[in-house]
Amino acid sequence: MLVQFYNVSKIYPNGAKALDDISIQIDRGEFVFLMGPSGAGKSTLVKMLFREELPTRGQIFLASRSVVRMKRSDVPKLRRNMGIVFQDFKLLERKTVAENVSFAMEVVGASSKDIRTRVPEVINMVGLKGKENSFPGELSGGEQQRVGIARALSNRPLLLIADEPTGNLDLNTSQEIMELLFDINRKGTTVIMASHARELVRAARKRVIMLQNGRVVDDSPNGESLL
Ligand SMILES: Nc1ncnc2c1ncn2[C@@H]1O[C@H](COP(=O)(O)OP(=O)(O)O)[C@@H](O)[C@H]1O
Ligand SMILES: [Mg+2]
Repeated sequence: MLVQFYNVSKIYPNGAKALDDISIQIDRGEFVFLMGPSGAGKSTLVKMLFREELPTRGQIFLASRSVVRMKRSDVPKLRRNMGIVFQDFKLLERKTVAENVSFAMEVVGASSKDIRTRVPEVINMVGLKGKENSFPGELSGGEQQRVGIARALSNRPLLLIADEPTGNLDLNTSQEIMELLFDINRKGTTVIMASHARELVRAARKRVIMLQNGRVVDDSPNGESLL
C-alpha cells in the first residue's frame, strides 16, 4: 500500500472538526478521487499527506513510513516523493515556464545535468513545448495549470496530489487537464485528486472516496456510486 490512513481525526485549534475517524488505503498506481461538498474535509486530508497538518488522532503511512511520527528533519524528504498541484496554480509570476519547473528541482538539490534533461521532458509531457520562455501572465488558465503539473512531476514523485486542480477552469479546459492527469497515471504515477465537480468525477469512472462532514460515506470503484 502506498497510502494508509488509520482512524484519523482532525480537530483544528478553533474547534472545527474537519476529519472524523477516517481509514483509507490507496495502492501504488491507483487514480483516486476525494469527492464531497465544500467543507467536507478534502483539503485537510490532502494536507496531512505532505504533513502540512498533523492529525489530532490516528496514524498515516506513506510507503509504510509514518508521516505522523517522522522527525521534522525528514519532512523535506517526504515532500520530495510528492508532487502537489493547486487550484490557483501557485506559479512564480516573474519566472518563465522553464524557470518555474527548474526552480522546483533546484530547491530539492537536483543536479544541473538532471535539471537540463528533465525540464524539457516534463514541459513536453504536459503539452507546453514552445512555451518554455513564456511568463505565467502570458498563458491561459489551462496552460498555467499545465505548468503546475509539469512542476509537480519534475522530481519524479511517487504520488501526485491535486487539490481542486480544475476549480478555476472552464469545462473544456478541465476535461483536457483530466486527460493529462489520466495520462500521467497510465505512465505509473499514483494520483489523488480532490474535487467537488460531480460531473467531471463521474465521467472519469475511477475510484471515488466520498467525504461528508469529515467522514468517509462511500468508497467505490469506477465512479459507480455517482451513476
Ligand atoms: N486552518 C483551519 N482552521 C480551522 N478550521 C479549518 C481550517 N481548515 C479547514 N477548516 C475547517 O475544516 C473543515 C474542512 O475543511 P476543508 O478540509 O478545507 O474541506 P474541503 O476541502 O472539503 O472544502 C471545514 O469546516 C473548515 O472550515
Ligand atoms: Mg478544499
